[in-house]
Amino acid sequence: MREYSQSWMLLPISLTIAFFTSIASAQSNITYDDTNFSMQYSTSPAWNTDVWAQQSPPPYNGTNHGSPNPGAQMTFTFTGNAIYIYGYKWTDHGFRTFLIDDTREIQCDGRTGEQGSRALLFYRTSMSDADHTLTIKNTGTQGQYLNLDYVVITQGFVRPFLPFLFPLSHLIIQPHSATHPQREPIKQHPNRRNHWQIDP
Ligand SMILES: *[C@@H]1O[C@H](CO)[C@@H](O)[C@H](O)[C@H]1NC(C)=O
Ligand SMILES: *[C@@H]1O[C@H](CO)[C@@H](O)[C@H](O)[C@H]1NC(C)=O
Ligand SMILES: *[C@@H]1O[C@H](CO)[C@@H](O)[C@H](O)[C@H]1NC(C)=O
Repeated sequence: MREYSQSWMLLPISLTIAFFTSIASAQSNITYDDTNFSMQYSTSPAWNTDVWAQQSPPPYNGTNHGSPNPGAQMTFTFTGNAIYIYGYKWTDHGFRTFLIDDTREIQCDGRTGEQGSRALLFYRTSMSDADHTLTIKNTGTQGQYLNLDYVVITQGFVRPFLPFLFPLSHLIIQPHSATHPQREPIKQHPNRRNHWQIDP
């Protein structure tokens, strides 16, 4: 019977939709402003909290941290499986490194990629849904800025409740290994012994 067989076909479709809805709704994002106490800034080299009045859109919740000082760093301890770091990027910015836990340090250039207000500085997905420590350091020359506005954390990795779908859902939840916005070749840093390469 034709109608009967068609309604049967809806069952796997409904199950699939229910499955992916349960996965999607289990993830949530939390925004940490740059003023959050979880973010520890070096005092020497120093940071400032000046806000550039012309910046549009203005920084998230009206605050940001910036430093033109080489070696200025910020450490942030968080719980989650993905992290997205935003700030202002422009031509007077320079190199900066991002280190999560004891994995390799990734160097990015503030002058490339998305520019201006609330630009994505760096992100990493597919981490274990656990505690992590991020360290960002200004590795530019004196006067080259590093600006931090806010950080978005994704929490809530859940293992699928249908075991036979695990390999499929695993692929969907963890599509990439460490990723980052910039793809330009990493520059060698004269003061560092270990020169990590960004994957092509
Ligand atoms: C969390 O934020 C990132 C970056 O904006 C976005 O790609 C992702 O879809 C968001 N996830 C959720 C569950 O809202
Ligand atoms: C830090 O951010 C988290 C997540 O938004 C929030 O729950 C907490 O209250 C914030 N703490 C401060 C001191 O702003
Ligand atoms: C936004 O700033 C106000 C003070 O202007 C502060 O009370 C509030 O906690 C801030 N919100 C976040 C999410 O940091």
